[in-house]
Amino acid sequence: MSRPVRIAGLTVAYGGSRRAPATPVLDGLDLELAAGSFTALLGPSGCGKSTVLGAVAGFVRPTAGRVTVADVPVTGPGPDRGVVFQHYALFPWRTARGNVEFALKRLGLKRAERRRRALAALAEVGLADGAEKYPAQLSGGMQQRVALARAVAAEPDVLLLDEPFGALDALTRTRMQDLLRRLWQRTGLTVLFVTHDIDEALSLAERVVVLGGPPGGVLADHAVPPGPVTPGLRAAIADRLGAT
Ligand SMILES: Nc1ncnc2c1ncn2[C@@H]1O[C@H](COP(=O)(O)OP(=O)(O)O)[C@@H](O)[C@H]1O
Ligand SMILES: [Mg+2]
Repeated sequence: MSRPVRIAGLTVAYGGSRRAPATPVLDGLDLELAAGSFTALLGPSGCGKSTVLGAVAGFVRPTAGRVTVADVPVTGPGPDRGVVFQHYALFPWRTARGNVEFALKRLGLKRAERRRRALAALAEVGLADGAEKYPAQLSGGMQQRVALARAVAAEPDVLLLDEPFGALDALTRTRMQDLLRRLWQRTGLTVLFVTHDIDEALSLAERVVVLGGPPGGVLADHAVPPGPVTPGLRAAIADRLGAT
């Protein structure tokens, strides 16, 4: 199922105290992600991209404002939202299948069903043959496939990715981008993809939101029409990025 995500008046301030309130990283951010849409959140390092993603994931508690998924307020992490980070954080002592199965435990599924879903998710990311391998036996790209399988195995409505391909070489990265695009087209998940790479944002997403700051605010919001990216669109986005 695809579901819309609404971020309304999102304000996040880390640390601080009653005497010295922290300056917010995000200050009243509004952003709506349509059900089944693929949005790239683009911005320089430190502008608050991961904070936005963390608030949707439920890892980051807003100081003010709120996030809802299909009108249900986010109060913490949940299986309706799958998350993929740059550092895949797989358990080295579990196989690829074991890593995905472990993530399904919180769903309360029977063992056979966990196994069935894990194998299906690994097949979905082209890793059917690597299911019984350990992370150390897998390349970086393959480990990231496991992380992607882990995120989708719970059949979430929303997929959140935080610079997921940043540590991969250029060729592997392009392959993973293709894989993600096909996965999205097949599943209709609502995708929020965080990156600081303008070309990655433009090649993947149907919408690019440029975040500036801190405090993070939306500097630009562009639809990306299908087909080759026009130099004008790239220049307009690059211009906003440069201005931050
Ligand atoms: N847990 C945290 N505690 C304190 N400061 C944080 C924390 N997480 C992020 N920050 C600060 O918030 C700002 C935005 O961080 P982040 O959301 O990670 O930006 P981005 O992902 O765009 O690089 C940065 O200045 C960062 O140092
Ligand atoms: Mg970040």
